[in-house]
Amino acid sequence: MSALLAIRGLSVRAGPATLIDDLSVDVAARERVGLIGESGSGKSLTALAVAGLLPRGLSAEGSVRLRGEEVVGAPERRLDALRGQAVAIVFQEPLSALDPLMRVERQVALPLARRARRDGTPLRGSALGAAVRALLAEVALPDLDRVARAYPHELSGGQRQRVAIAMALACRPDLLIADEPTTALDVTTQEEVMQLLRRLVAERGMALLLIGHDLPVVAGSVDRLVVMRRGVAVEAGPTADVLGHPRHDYTRGLVEAARRFDDAIGRPTA
Ligand SMILES: Nc1ncnc2c1ncn2[C@@H]1O[C@H](COP(=O)(O)OP(=O)(O)O)[C@@H](O)[C@H]1O
Ligand SMILES: [Mg+2]
Repeated sequence: MSALLAIRGLSVRAGPATLIDDLSVDVAARERVGLIGESGSGKSLTALAVAGLLPRGLSAEGSVRLRGEEVVGAPERRLDALRGQAVAIVFQEPLSALDPLMRVERQVALPLARRARRDGTPLRGSALGAAVRALLAEVALPDLDRVARAYPHELSGGQRQRVAIAMALACRPDLLIADEPTTALDVTTQEEVMQLLRRLVAERGMALLLIGHDLPVVAGSVDRLVVMRRGVAVEAGPTADVLGHPRHDYTRGLVEAARRFDDAIGRPTA
């Protein structure tokens, strides 16, 4: 079976600097893969390259295939279709995904209506409003009428991230990329949002590429881990293997640091 996402020999450069070096990662349908590594290791650029969203000035080489379709070098028209259907991204800072001047209801309605049009089953009027509310309920937002009428600044950070997740779900993607989705949130909210993501991925049968720098947070939600350092994947394997028998010194350091932290607070390591 061919992978839903197949990254092969991907390199990303900014002039002479190599930011991602010969990266290969597969994500199968319904599989959950974690991408971890310290800040600056190339995780976000990987996510952007998958969605064909690399910033100007960066060049990509190699291959990124989504549902078999090549992303590297694809025309914007094709990328737009893939982004609306094959892949959606949730970013670290939900405010970056939300329009500060638009009420939540409209922000969620736009991708919902677009996807429905693409499917040949247009949604509008009260049916669209009901679909928005159903989606807000699915991401467990409280007080749907208030939230639907709110502007982003009137919501908490956790509520904003739930809205951003609802917008990603509105595209009904095969692959959800979550780039440090809980890093900007307080610890209690972090766990709630991770639980929500795990539930939605399972219920909707999506594949997940979960990006983070915190090994325990990511490892608890994925089947496989890829460890990146300075643009290179230094280790990859099933989560239990990587945690139990890390091969690379860098991974060993991450696992030991997580253990020491768990010992210090009396939490069992996953
Ligand atoms: N637009 C850009 N131009 C030049 N260098 C960039 C650009 N965006 C990111 N980088 C560099 O690429 C490296 C990887 O960045 P990034 O993927 O954001 O790391 P991570 O998400 O793992 O923290 C970093 O060294 C960063 O400074
Ligand atoms: Mg990043």
